[in-house]
Amino acid sequence: MKIFLIGFMSSGKTTVGRELAHFLSYQFLDLDEYIETKHNRTIKQIFETKGEEHFRLIENEALKEVCSFKGDFVISSGGGTSCFYNNIDYMNRNGITVYLRLEVSTLVSRLVESKIDRPLLWGKTREELNDYIIRVLDERKKFYEKAQIIVDADNTKPIDLAKIIMSAL
Ligand code: S3P
Repeated sequence: MKIFLIGFMSSGKTTVGRELAHFLSYQFLDLDEYIETKHNRTIKQIFETKGEEHFRLIENEALKEVCSFKGDFVISSGGGTSCFYNNIDYMNRNGITVYLRLEVSTLVSRLVESKIDRPLLWGKTREELNDYIIRVLDERKKFYEKAQIIVDADNTKPIDLAKIIMSAL
């Protein structure tokens, strides 16, 4: 069984995914980390040298690879993984998808702190970040909301979110 955590950057996919994998005794895999190891480059370097389109290609390839792994996995995807190449349908066919949904204001506060690591957010002021998140979330919502389980994650600790997801499986 594969459980995919999907949602916007900084929605907590990796932290919650680790907790969930621990509770279920599943292996945990972070797709961005898998890509970095496979290509021996950070996500930042891939964006810088090859651009977003190339990143989406290798991200799509990586998703298909990890889906072919035998065994039970909780997989935290990148914020865009489920929104390209019909990947949300692919994930729904190959496992259970869980969308960690957060308010724009929560995402903005979290991303102001951590945008340095995220190429799509570089150089944006707080206001630009706010507008960017509203616009991109609006484009991505239709993919995220195809998830089989949707959890509102604003005011809940990762460990409790993992418990909520477990009871919804
Ligand atoms: C992206 C999200 C990132 C990473 C890349 C692109 C996106 O992952 O895959 O920078 O398009 O939303 P996180 O959601 O883990 O930050």
